[in-house]
Amino acid sequence: MSKRYTLTAALPYTNGPIHIGHLAGVYIPADIYARYLRLKGCDVAFICGSDEHGVPITIKAKNEGVTPQDVVDRYHKIIKDSLKEFGISFDNYSRTSAEIHHKTASDFFKKLHKKGAFIEEISDQLYDAEAKQFLADRFVIGTCPKCGYTESYGDQCEACGTSHNAVDLINPKSAISGNIPELKSTKHWYLPLNDHQEFLKSWIELENKHDWKPNVYGQCMSWINDGLRPRAVTRDLEWGIPVPLEGAEGKVLYVWFDAPIGYISSTKEWALSKGKDWEPYWKDKETTLLHFIGKDNIVFHCIIFPAMLRAEGSYILPKNIPANEFLNLEGQKISTSKNWAVWLPEYLKEFPEQQDVLRYVLTATAPETKDNDFTWKDFQARNNNELVAIYGNFINRVLVLTHKYYGGQVPSVTALNSTDAAIFKLLKETPIALQSSLERFRFREASQLIMNLARSGNKYLADEEPWKLIKTNPDRVQTIMNVALQLAAGISVLSEPFLPTTSKKLQSMLNLNVKPTWGFIEKGQHLLAPKHLIGNVSLLFNKIEDSQIEIQLQKLKLSKISNEMETNTIKQKPIISYDDFSKLNLRVGVILKAKKLPKAKRLLVLDVDIGDKVIIIVSGIAKDYNIESVIGQKVTVLCNLCPRNLRGVESQGMILMTKKADGSSVFVQPDLNHSSIPGLIIE
Ligand code: MF3
Ligand code: ZN
Repeated sequence: MSKRYTLTAALPYTNGPIHIGHLAGVYIPADIYARYLRLKGCDVAFICGSDEHGVPITIKAKNEGVTPQDVVDRYHKIIKDSLKEFGISFDNYSRTSAEIHHKTASDFFKKLHKKGAFIEEISDQLYDAEAKQFLADRFVIGTCPKCGYTESYGDQCEACGTSHNAVDLINPKSAISGNIPELKSTKHWYLPLNDHQEFLKSWIELENKHDWKPNVYGQCMSWINDGLRPRAVTRDLEWGIPVPLEGAEGKVLYVWFDAPIGYISSTKEWALSKGKDWEPYWKDKETTLLHFIGKDNIVFHCIIFPAMLRAEGSYILPKNIPANEFLNLEGQKISTSKNWAVWLPEYLKEFPEQQDVLRYVLTATAPETKDNDFTWKDFQARNNNELVAIYGNFINRVLVLTHKYYGGQVPSVTALNSTDAAIFKLLKETPIALQSSLERFRFREASQLIMNLARSGNKYLADEEPWKLIKTNPDRVQTIMNVALQLAAGISVLSEPFLPTTSKKLQSMLNLNVKPTWGFIEKGQHLLAPKHLIGNVSLLFNKIEDSQIEIQLQKLKLSKISNEMETNTIKQKPIISYDDFSKLNLRVGVILKAKKLPKAKRLLVLDVDIGDKVIIIVSGIAKDYNIESVIGQKVTVLCNLCPRNLRGVESQGMILMTKKADGSSVFVQPDLNHSSIPGLIIE
């Protein structure tokens, strides 16, 4: 019997498309793992689906004036299609609005209820009287009771990851109206996590022996040591799965109660379509269950879901929860609302047929043990210097030479020397090294083992120089080319989990008809028999030009500008009194002279006529205005600002500026036709 695995990848929220943060954190590592297990002949159920409930979806629908169902239908399709096109090989991708999921989640809840696994309690909860809405989860923002972060949500703090109850927030505010919530009593069902605390603790300590990531273990222990408390698993909301009890009208299941059950319903859906039994994948102790997630999901997968599964009683618990840290983009936190992201559907359009490039870059720089940064320059460099110059170059040389010397036929080995043997040894040993990296979820390390094989291949060819020997020692060249071809074939197999599209293309170029397995390589078997005819050769990777990178950077720059404009226009400052305002001596001024300040690229020194005198102002406008164009301009001047020394010049006032759509600065100019204006008061 082959070993059975159930792999789950966090169900994405259907309130936006997938971006590189999701890919690097969850979907790529999970997919590499699934493909690796399949190559080894394991029985794998790789499960995912859309997470379609929860407050963010309701908020998005409200903002757009459409129904939540419209929102989830739209994004479910976008997400599902783009992950498929990208090559994520889910065995099933379901959605939590599916009937099978509603039924599975309701039944799960009913079973727990029947077993007495919940506490039923009427208590005061936060309520927005204006919006006529209880404020749970993302409908409420306040200060995190644990870390003091002031923008924590009702159910979870994004800064420290803690999960809490909305009433625990300090200074809560409604995210709908901004109002300070009232308290209103309502009934809910709670999962008493405290009852499971000892069990969870010993379970985590036991499983942690199998190499849990330190961040996952550390977070779990910190929550457990703080003491677990009952958590509400129902909500007073409209959008979600109705609580399947009498007297619970108008209440739905908490999204984090229903979503992880989505893994189970998606497995059921898959099994049904394949005529299989779903239960062994969730209930057989021989099955290995693994959850691939991002670090903000740790508490739900390590504490709450396991407590639910245990309370139910018939399920296995995960063996490991490989959670990644976060990926930043060009030094800044990825943000959907600020459009600071590389969106998968856009990438697929702009870099067609280059799925493996992004996949490789995101693997090689994955945020495994700490947050990491994606930059377009690094993307270009890894493509050009690694995929093109190492991997692609090795394969191309081998295949082109095989066509050139032997009309595409694999030559036979004449005699092996120690250099040749070293290549075979490296190839045979690589699966062992890969296995060790992958089973500890070190995907970066694993991806470099693949790159190393190609690197060794290049070195082998460069050292052996078949192109020189072909005239003097053609026998030796046969051996060299055979060794290089076996290495190329081995690379095609071992790189399948990392570069699936490339591997497929390479195997078709090599004309490998039977799909070779991991075991072939582990046993040191040669994949290409002498006289085997290889196919046509084409390039596996293409250079990425500066101009392509410029376009991407330009797009990000536009996002930044529109964000800045938004914050500039909406930036709130405290109310001031008329007295405060009247302290400002604002006047119309005319710029009489301008000169550059040596060694200060941004600054111009201006002589400005403000009516009763001419003052000197040092202004940071050199990048937006040249000297000639400012002379004679009418500007708004704050004349009584405390003088400041800027690069050795005393600046005696300030010129008021604003920003244009392209981010450049412009003078706030009084619309005056008067001929003699300097000194005119502005009030
Ligand atoms: N939708 C959640 C997120 O994107 C993840 C849900 S995972 C599941 O953060 F376990 F609930 F399914
Ligand atoms: Zn916090």
